[in-house]
Amino acid sequence: MDSELTLTLETCLVLIPLLVLVLLGLRWVQPPQDKESSAMRFQRQHVDSGSSPGSNPNYCNEMMKRRNMTQGRCKPVNTFVHQPLADVQAVCFQKNVPCKNGQTNCYQSSSNMHITDCRL
Ligand SMILES: *[C@@H]1O[C@H](CO)[C@@H](O)[C@H](O)[C@H]1NC(C)=O
Repeated sequence: MDSELTLTLETCLVLIPLLVLVLLGLRWVQPPQDKESSAMRFQRQHVDSGSSPGSNPNYCNEMMKRRNMTQGRCKPVNTFVHQPLADVQAVCFQKNVPCKNGQTNCYQSSSNMHITDCRL
């Protein structure tokens, strides 16, 4: 009995520093908070809820620049959606359709949405 207790204690003594190392490792592996998540990136590149181009002929030039898609190289094609963010998020729970690239994680909105296609 005594030896069994000793073994458990030893195991704990080994496990605690190991656990600390693992936790430190996980923290270290976690992306820094200032790194843009893919959801944030999608929002920056594709969601413009507040406005719509209306008759502004410079909409694409201004928005592509404002949303940081012209640095280094211009993104050649980009679509902005002019709907509330919640409406855009809701599409993920609507009709599952095959993607153009053959993947299966694409969803089609059940209603029409206001969009603007920008082309270089
Ligand atoms: C664009 O990039 C600049 C500089 O990196 C940054 O300060 C700004 O917040 C970015 N704008 C957007 C909309 O992400």
